[in-house]
Amino acid sequence: MAGALSPQIRILDGGEHRLLTDIGRVDPTSLASYREHGGYAGLERAVTRLTPTDVIEEIRAAGLRGRGGSGFPTAAKWRVAREMDADRKIVVANLMAADPSALGDRALAEGNPHLVVEGLIIAAYAVGASEAIVAVRRDWPLAIERLQTAIREATDSHLGGYLVLGTDTSVQLSVWEGSGAYVAGEETALISALSGDRGMPLIRPPYPAERGLWGAPTIVQNGETLAHVAWILAHSPDAFASVGTEASRGTKLVTVMGRVGEPGLLEIPLGTPLLDLLGMAGGGTGTTKALFVGGPGGGAIDAGSLNLPYDFDDLEGAGAIIGSGSVLVTDSATCMVDTARFFIDFNAREACGKAVPCRIGTKRLVETVDRILAATPRPNDFTLLRDLSRKVSDTALCKLERLASGPILTTLDRFGDEYRAHAERGVCIAGACRTSELLPLIEPLAGVEPAARLE
Ligand SMILES: Cc1cc2nc3c(=O)[nH]c(=O)nc-3n(C[C@H](O)[C@H](O)[C@H](O)COP(=O)(O)O)c2cc1C
Repeated sequence: MAGALSPQIRILDGGEHRLLTDIGRVDPTSLASYREHGGYAGLERAVTRLTPTDVIEEIRAAGLRGRGGSGFPTAAKWRVAREMDADRKIVVANLMAADPSALGDRALAEGNPHLVVEGLIIAAYAVGASEAIVAVRRDWPLAIERLQTAIREATDSHLGGYLVLGTDTSVQLSVWEGSGAYVAGEETALISALSGDRGMPLIRPPYPAERGLWGAPTIVQNGETLAHVAWILAHSPDAFASVGTEASRGTKLVTVMGRVGEPGLLEIPLGTPLLDLLGMAGGGTGTTKALFVGGPGGGAIDAGSLNLPYDFDDLEGAGAIIGSGSVLVTDSATCMVDTARFFIDFNAREACGKAVPCRIGTKRLVETVDRILAATPRPNDFTLLRDLSRKVSDTALCKLERLASGPILTTLDRFGDEYRAHAERGVCIAGACRTSELLPLIEPLAGVEPAARLE
């Protein structure tokens, strides 16, 4: 049908489909089709029957927290921007999907773009913004095309643009194509890029809601968050909060990948135990060892802790995060040291280089893990890994840096035996690291399973 998604996006059954429910049913290239499925009812209600303050109150009552990683209460941010006395205010939909493995925002943009656009116009109305920008990754051509079509149709039909639905609200809509590294999705880096500068984070305060793009109060909101905004205005705050936990309400888009039966995109109630989430994705393909939850700044949750609820606070308490909404499943054939190395190397490469402890520190962390992997550690390398991880985090300019060492610290704590086997004996317990250059370093491997030896 018109409106197929990019082949890499596979939507899984199970969980609770709200944002995903119309994907595959609604024609993403047609406003009429979106409206037939109840689209723009939330916006209509907002601008014709509610004041901006009422809208903010509904979002507060729903308990919506940002889906872009931080879990910050959406209404609190909107209230700050609303109260700012400024001629110009701006709202930005963040669809930079800085973690390329996360599929949620892309699925929404390709499969039901009006849902995001509707949420963005509601946000603009609530905070009093006259400009609304959809910032989307340049390497998602289909998403860009469909968002552009949606914006054109919405503007032509007076759902956006001048005099929204015959009211005195006007919101100029545009799509901005962005490129760049992982850090380019961080909101102050995105604001810098939108203003024409390099996409590097800025020191806060001032917070963007007070002083953001071109000095104007700016609300940056994740694409999925905005889709929830449209859903809440159409269905009510109570309906939104009918699933989830007290502190983490509603549903969340989660991308499950790795050693799992059915990798793909789920929508689950927040608070779903990790074990159930794994089950919805077809279960582990081998003996599950750990789940890396939250993307490059996330952490490893070991298989013994899979009763942990997937929500903002429980994950953070366990050293992981919701982050990009991705979950990497590993099994007994996955090396935890090498996987942690993959993430810290990603963070080092994708950092912008503005903060020295981040630029240098993440590289030194990669080198330290490399020495351990090659069985050539220096005497204090384990202490160095922990100390440097903390220092990089404590001196952080942005959250990339603050969270960068999560995969290292959680694997060191939970899979220290794998680090020690690599460092002291040149053995990969998972039997996964088979780098031929490491061969000369290997000591006699008494008592070690043959499959676990470096080959
Ligand atoms: C390294 C890094 C990358 C980020 N990438 C994204 C991203 O791709 N999309 C996104 O919405 N938020 C991303 N964020 C979070 C944003 O800074 C910001 O918190 C978010 O856009 C606010 O929207 P929300 O409250 O709706 O989540 C990133 C943060 C960091 C530190």
